[in-house]
Amino acid sequence: MSDWLHDLFSGRPWWMNIVMVFCAFMAFIYMPWDIFWKPVEADQEVWLGVMFTGWAAKFAALPHWYLYAALAYGFRRRRSWMRILAPLYAAQVAIGMLLWPNFQYGSWTGFFFGLVAGIPFALLTLAFWNARDHFVHRRGSLRERYGDWALITGASAGIGLEFARALARDGIHCVLVARRGEKLEALAAELREKFQVEVRVEAEDLASPGGPDRVADAVADIEVGILVNNAGIGYAGRFDKQDVTRLTDMVNLNCLAPVLLTSRLLPGMRDRHRGAVIMTGSVAGRQPLPLHGVYSATKAFDLHLGEAIWAEMRSEGVDALVLEPGPTLTEFQEVAGELQHSGASASSVVDAALDALGLQPSVVAGWWNWVRANAASRFASRPLVAYAARFIMAMQTPKEMR
Ligand SMILES: NC(=O)c1ccc[n+]([C@@H]2O[C@H](COP(=O)([O-])OP(=O)(O)OC[C@H]3O[C@@H](n4cnc5c(N)ncnc54)[C@H](OP(=O)(O)O)[C@@H]3O)[C@@H](O)[C@H]2O)c1
Repeated sequence: MSDWLHDLFSGRPWWMNIVMVFCAFMAFIYMPWDIFWKPVEADQEVWLGVMFTGWAAKFAALPHWYLYAALAYGFRRRRSWMRILAPLYAAQVAIGMLLWPNFQYGSWTGFFFGLVAGIPFALLTLAFWNARDHFVHRRGSLRERYGDWALITGASAGIGLEFARALARDGIHCVLVARRGEKLEALAAELREKFQVEVRVEAEDLASPGGPDRVADAVADIEVGILVNNAGIGYAGRFDKQDVTRLTDMVNLNCLAPVLLTSRLLPGMRDRHRGAVIMTGSVAGRQPLPLHGVYSATKAFDLHLGEAIWAEMRSEGVDALVLEPGPTLTEFQEVAGELQHSGASASSVVDAALDALGLQPSVVAGWWNWVRANAASRFASRPLVAYAARFIMAMQTPKEMR
């Protein structure tokens, strides 16, 4: 609990924490009450000094609600766009406070009350403007933070390949792991030439017995500072129609391999008091996913494991992050036997992960995926979520496997 409170309130001045708590109160308690429970005839809403009443107030409250939610989130995560939004919003309130009594009372009385109400918010605007650097994380390069070497599993394609490119761009030497050695060698040549980094290739089947240990043995002579447990496969279809050998391979690759690799490489990071473990989970891990049942269960496993390691390792100087992509354009759909559908680029997903690393335990790539993941897992009943997911997954699953 104290770790959580420390995490919540550190990195901001005290007065900004008070504004953050106020915005969270408005977003989660006051605005929902104001919009959904307060009688229409009693409702009032003020924007820039102009007062709305009745149904107009109800509608005018919606952008207010959105704004308070965005502000609460922006303060909590110290998003860079808050450098502009925070002073802008305080200025809007200051102008509203200044004008409203003038419209209400007129003459000198209105002017006086306008000044009294407006000046504190004008000062708050100034304070936000002066404190705008609090919304910029000065974190140094990944290499400075975590060390010289990264090990990336599933680097021969898709998200893993983009992780390798992004880390090498930051000057980090890479160990590339997957089964297709020729693809890894081609990527290794590209990284060496473009970024002048050292690259090792470990062609290995991580789903096979002893595979993860052989990889860990092969890197025993270097200090791996970033472990990216990314290799993973899906398998589309109804459970009773699926091949159990393929399911077993999937569980071994998606769940067992990250456990084994992390257990070998994490102690070194802990002893050095720096390092990072990234797990590629999926939004599929937030909920039951019929026609991808075992896959979504493996991704729930990755999510819970990664977030638990995040909490355990906070005080040891080691960061952990679960990346939860939504549909992404890689070889995944073909390997899983899904019907083709659209998705995000692998590089945008990797950018989301590297931006969030060290700041939070997990990140959903893409705001729409975030909305869907949270709406499903937090607000809807479990039967509804399961049925809705089955309906959607049926559109992506070949008929004979439904
Ligand atoms: N694409 C999506 O829509 C999506 C969405 C959410 C989460 N994810 C997750 O993202 C991660 C990466 O997937 P991706 O989208 O980049 O798919 P991908 O393009 O198919 O890449 C999968 C990678 O895993 C490697 N791999 C597969 N089986 C392996 C094994 N037995 N041993 C070692 N390596 C193995 C593959 O290399 P080889 O074939 O050469 O071994 C490849 O490099 C997975 O964990 C997946 O669950 C993907």
